Amino acid sequence: MTDELILQEVNKSYGPDILMLRDVNLTLAKGTHLSVLGPSGSGKTTLLRIIAGLESIDSGNILFNGKSLQDIPPYKRSFGYMFQDFALFPHMNVFQNVAFGLKMKNKDKGEIKTRVGKMLELTGLSGYENRNVNELSGGERQRVALARTLAPSPRLLMLDEPLSSLDRVLRQNLLGELTDIIATLNITTIFVTHDHEEAFAAGSTVLIMKEGRIEQKGSREDLIQRPANEWVRHFLS
Ligand SMILES: Nc1ncnc2c1ncn2[C@@H]1O[C@H](COP(=O)(O)OP(=O)(O)O)[C@@H](O)[C@H]1O
Ligand SMILES: [Mg+2]
Repeated sequence: MTDELILQEVNKSYGPDILMLRDVNLTLAKGTHLSVLGPSGSGKTTLLRIIAGLESIDSGNILFNGKSLQDIPPYKRSFGYMFQDFALFPHMNVFQNVAFGLKMKNKDKGEIKTRVGKMLELTGLSGYENRNVNELSGGERQRVALARTLAPSPRLLMLDEPLSSLDRVLRQNLLGELTDIIATLNITTIFVTHDHEEAFAAGSTVLIMKEGRIEQKGSREDLIQRPANEWVRHFLS
């Protein structure tokens, strides 16, 4: 199948005593919206980083569209990664932030302008082109980060706790906005969170991680009505 992501028996450790991913097997068809839910330290960020190519793996294989990603550097994978703290470029305005990935791909000026305009419209930021990112609210910064991540048309979108740096009131509204935007895109999405409500809102399938292992993967109904074990039942209650 095209643009299918497959992880086979992936193991990752940081030194002999810190095993972060254990025998991770995962197949994601194109267009899947997956949430990865687990307590802090369960390996969620590590999972995203190895898919992005920001970390190597110790054993196993990662395939995309039938090909191993082993020797493909991060920038050649065409994956979008939105960091927990958004990591906007502080010395660039909104337009420049969103245009960054397109410039890196040597797109011409006209194409960049059109694409950035589209992304700002999608995220409700039309008219913000010349704004300084340091003067934006948390919610606006999140939307700039999303526009920047989506601008180069990634084949896979990864969001690492995209709401966690925002205050609670904002979070509820932005969760809806974010999931609405994601729902309009036919792009495979991996949404990482430690929050149950966010996980079920953002993904039709939720993968539960504990200590670097996948405990269970399924729909909300599967997980709540048929938890794989006592730990999952307790974690979701
Ligand atoms: N570069 C690193 N070196 C050593 N240990 C690391 C490194 N990155 C992550 N870890 C370990 O992984 C754990 C967190 O894993 P992480 O994937 O960030 O989990 P999560 O995102 O689920 O909170 C930390 O407790 C830490 O011990
Ligand atoms: Mg994390």
